[in-house]
Amino acid sequence: MDTPMQVVYSQEQIAQRIQTLGTTISAAYREIQEPLVAVCVLKGAFVFFSDLVRGLDLDLEIDFVRLASYGQQTERHFKVQFTKDLETSITDRHVLLVEDIVDTGHSVQYLTQVLWARKPKSIRICALVDKKERREVNVHVDYPGFDLAKGFIVGYGLDYAERYRHLGEICTFTDLADLQ
Ligand code: IMP
Ligand code: MG
Repeated sequence: MDTPMQVVYSQEQIAQRIQTLGTTISAAYREIQEPLVAVCVLKGAFVFFSDLVRGLDLDLEIDFVRLASYGQQTERHFKVQFTKDLETSITDRHVLLVEDIVDTGHSVQYLTQVLWARKPKSIRICALVDKKERREVNVHVDYPGFDLAKGFIVGYGLDYAERYRHLGEICTFTDLADLQ
């Protein structure tokens, strides 16, 4: 039997929030009037990204990067590695990084450092879940979906040891609600 889980964000809540995010992001970039590269950070953001970009009324290209971090996902980790690079040049272009969760901030900090070296015009960050209270480095999420103070969540792209990514809603393990 699977571990009992409770829903943290329902499919309806997620869909509503993404619709609002789409409107906000579209309005922000429409003012710039220049094309955008929307970057999905694999694997966790893949479901969120596909819903988000379909709600953007903008001239945009999409691309993917993959970061891998070592160690147990529920532990603090500092080692981040870039395992799949972009295929699009971002030099002189506006970049919207789409993440699943910004937690300690180490992954996004590493990724933005690598991408800034390529001289984009701007980099903004959109994350479905912003765990602000757990931040260890100075990373700001421009477009947060949900703020979450604590708890380890799965579903809607998010995994625990590669499981649960396919769930339509975001859940937490009932017995492990205070995991983090
Ligand atoms: P950070 O470097 O600590 O910000 O790590 C962020 C990454 O850790 C996210 O992109 C997720 O892949 C993973 N992560 C952090 N919290 C959770 C969670 O509650 N559920 C699933 N993955 C998580
Ligand atoms: Mg991730």
